[in-house]
Amino acid sequence: MGPEVPVSASPSPSLVLGQKLLPQNSSVVQTSTSTKCSMFKIGSRSASISRSVSLAQVFNKGFSSPPSLEALSYAFTRSSHAAKNKLEGKVALITGAASGIGKATATKFINHGAKVVIADIQHQLGQETANELGPDATFISCDVTKESDVSNAVDFAISKHNQLDIMYNNAGVACKSPNSIVDLDLAVFDRVMNINVRGVMAGVKHASRVMIPRRSGTILCTASITGLMGGLAQHTYSVSKFAVVGIVKSHAAELCKHGIRINCISPFAMPTPFVMDEMSRMYPDADDEKLVEIVYRAGTLAGANCEPNDIANAALYLASDDAKYVSGHNLVVDGGFTSFKNLMFPAPG
Ligand SMILES: NC(=O)c1ccc[n+]([C@@H]2O[C@H](COP(=O)([O-])OP(=O)(O)OC[C@H]3O[C@@H](n4cnc5c(N)ncnc54)[C@H](O)[C@@H]3O)[C@@H](O)[C@H]2O)c1
Repeated sequence: MGPEVPVSASPSPSLVLGQKLLPQNSSVVQTSTSTKCSMFKIGSRSASISRSVSLAQVFNKGFSSPPSLEALSYAFTRSSHAAKNKLEGKVALITGAASGIGKATATKFINHGAKVVIADIQHQLGQETANELGPDATFISCDVTKESDVSNAVDFAISKHNQLDIMYNNAGVACKSPNSIVDLDLAVFDRVMNINVRGVMAGVKHASRVMIPRRSGTILCTASITGLMGGLAQHTYSVSKFAVVGIVKSHAAELCKHGIRINCISPFAMPTPFVMDEMSRMYPDADDEKLVEIVYRAGTLAGANCEPNDIANAALYLASDDAKYVSGHNLVVDGGFTSFKNLMFPAPG
């Protein structure tokens, strides 16, 4: 037996232990092998609860028989299986999953037990990605600017797997346009909005079409830190990502009535093909290594770089039951970049 330590010193209004609510002033102590509460009152009755009680409840064994080693080992195997398979039995459709963030997320979802439909405009690369990810991945050609393609992709997921649990509207493009509003080419604006905004709307619409009748499902979208603050990208791209956050907030209002969650992720910059294309236009003389270094150097969190896997982890969280009460949220994955500014005062002296 280890030393007794307080379970929580936080001033939360109540603590939940097993199925019971503990009043705030209960004295709760934990040992290395069990959790015991000194006498406390539930209504007019006094009770004492130990961790073995809640395990007994789990195994339907009553309060008197403590769980056997076999039962404990089964419980731990099951919980570690659940930790590794957060999307067991789920079906996900991810747009723009032939490369970058979408591909990393498809890989993560499959590793957690999901079946994934990769929907992308790049036919050959999409097919290669699906082959690389194995039998739980399928490719469907899809241009998100065509509503019929998005609708077909959703119907394809249903016909292949009988359900659609997760729709991730991730496809997006950079805008390759001049920085100043005075030079704005509205044809480019229309093209980018068509993919980055209208494409997301189409995805939300058709996912909702199949999720609302089932009263279940979750929708994700890729926004960006450029949709949180001005000045981080060309106007068109930035505006398109502000719109993605708006799409999520607006639809959360309707979809929550049907038990459907919708959220977005706002990543910091990372050197995916999309960014590398932009960077090589800006720095035509720099090699790939140099461009990657420039992107990473823009980050603020010491000792870490933003990578597609970081976004895949955020997507896994939002898509899984870990986020079962999270909707209308913009999960910013930027190492703190948009949380602060520094006053660049000169050094004293
Ligand atoms: N890389 C970054 O720094 C960064 C930062 C913030 C947000 N984002 C966003 O992340 C998302 C994914 O980008 P990425 O960085 O993985 O880039 P990427 O270029 O690796 O992936 C984008 C994918 O979208 C696909 N696509 C493009 N147009 C499409 C269309 N009309 N229909 C279907 N698919 C289409 C591409 O073929 C590609 O596979 C985009 O929405 C992007 O705006 C990226």
